[in-house]
Amino acid sequence: MDKYKIVDHRFDAIVVGAGGAGLRATFGMASAGMSVGCITKVFPTRSHTVAAQGGINAALGNVVEDDWRSHFFDTVKGSDWLGDQDAIQYMTQQAIPAVIELENAGLPFSRTEEGKIYQRPFGGQYLADHKTIAHRTCAAADRTGHAMLHTLYQECLRHKANFFVEYVALDLLQGADGEVNGVMAYCLEDGSIHRFSAKAVVLATGGYGRAYQSTTNAHICTGDGQAMAARIGVPLQDMEMVQFHPTGIYPAGCLITEGARGEGGYLTNGDGERFMERYAPTAKDLASRDVVSRAETLEILEGRGCGPNKDHCMLHLEHLGADVLAEKLPGISETAMIFAGVDVTREPIPVLPTVHYNMGGIPTNFHGEVINHQNGEDKVVPGLFAIGECACVSVHGANRLGANSLLDIIVFGRAAALRLEQTLPDLKEPKLDPQASASAMERFDRVRTAKGNRKVAEIRAGMQSTMQNRCAVFRTAETLEAGVREMREVAALMPDLGISDHGMIFNTDLVEALELDNLLGVALATMDSANAREESRGAHARDDFPERDDDKWMKHSLAWVDNQVEGEVRLDYRPVKSAPLNDEVESVPPMKRVY
Ligand code: FUM
Repeated sequence: MDKYKIVDHRFDAIVVGAGGAGLRATFGMASAGMSVGCITKVFPTRSHTVAAQGGINAALGNVVEDDWRSHFFDTVKGSDWLGDQDAIQYMTQQAIPAVIELENAGLPFSRTEEGKIYQRPFGGQYLADHKTIAHRTCAAADRTGHAMLHTLYQECLRHKANFFVEYVALDLLQGADGEVNGVMAYCLEDGSIHRFSAKAVVLATGGYGRAYQSTTNAHICTGDGQAMAARIGVPLQDMEMVQFHPTGIYPAGCLITEGARGEGGYLTNGDGERFMERYAPTAKDLASRDVVSRAETLEILEGRGCGPNKDHCMLHLEHLGADVLAEKLPGISETAMIFAGVDVTREPIPVLPTVHYNMGGIPTNFHGEVINHQNGEDKVVPGLFAIGECACVSVHGANRLGANSLLDIIVFGRAAALRLEQTLPDLKEPKLDPQASASAMERFDRVRTAKGNRKVAEIRAGMQSTMQNRCAVFRTAETLEAGVREMREVAALMPDLGISDHGMIFNTDLVEALELDNLLGVALATMDSANAREESRGAHARDDFPERDDDKWMKHSLAWVDNQVEGEVRLDYRPVKSAPLNDEVESVPPMKRVY
């Protein structure tokens, strides 16, 4: 589109996003001698990984003896048998060298008395007897993500990676044979438009918690990578699997780490009862997240919530003592004071299940290569990779274990870099196709010049309340069918969008409009996938189909957003991979999931 002057760049590979996954991939490729450009909406150390608190799982056995096979078993069980066991083996086995590598890079982990990396218990994780609680979560107090981002960013700088900070990725570019060979981006600072050409593009843009009203996610978590992939015809996988974290601060939604319960914190209801004992007699407060979130929601729905409106629960840490709180949980002690006015050494924190993580996303294999599904066949999309929360490998299946997300981003960020080191010579040289950039710019121009009557905030509020009310912890055909209808009504408002500032320089209204356009597509895919899945599995709990149905539903959902404004979503399915990578571990067959 001639009306925009375009600045061209050329790299071996482009990474979109500078959270833990993006930085690990960037550093991996840069250290292997590739030229890498990393495009990011925010300064790298402000990416959402910074908010990850409790830690990263690896069976190091620093506190009690452990084995990666137990981690494998727990992750398959945690996923409620929707996770792919080849990828789960890869992740849990690679966890140990991945964490040691971070330690060597200087990540300031907390330490045991003997000077080893400190490991705390997290939910749903046991030793080989499946009964004794594991200490598998490697922690830097309760600021592990923060420490990780700083470590990785320094490694990227040391290897001379190129950063394009406050650049908003707009759309993927494709060559004649459908290969992905670049990205268009908008530079917020001076309003310029950039075309990045490369043999490969790695999407590492994080989740889309901002499709909901109440979330632990940063404002930047708007599903940009998922939406860009969907716009080139890639289906989104298992989008109905949205994780609610049991301890978002009431009512602000900010995260109080699961590590708080790992250190001995517990939940009570309005009667002062430790209700988790009824729902998960063995694991209690350290059951899997979906189990704890459902228990809290039931307590509230059955009139046993706390406070004048009986609409939240309480998390007790005061018995842990000021010293433990200061050493192990300093960050959340501060957050509780700022957002709830609570001194955790003296009183409990009001909490509520809050949207936290998307298990679904862009389908990939365990090398991070994006997989399309056409005419019943799976095919790698040449040149396109996705890693971290925007991807669905699928290691988390229907429910992610706490502290497996920092692990996922490190292991698969590294895997994508390793794969590209091998395959870069075979990928096509990018050819500039003016037509490809013109169609990417059409969407940008449509949004930038929008002069309709609806504000971004109005349409976004409609989407967020629909998602929050219709696609929540518990779902039924009634709520989901209403949700499908309402999401279509909201998406149909976009042609009437009007933005207040049509300029190009630091136009945050424009950025929010582009983000909303991305969110609407992923929200439609989420609602439709949830409506179709007639069973309960992991985070997808249906009152009208309360049991898991392996015969019909042990399969991944795939959702194509064919026409966003018309709300046209097409669904298909692909089988779950139940076989591990090799015979170093046995496949875990489906069984009843109790904690
Ligand atoms: O609870 C937490 O610290 C969050 C960790 C995670 O989501 O993995």
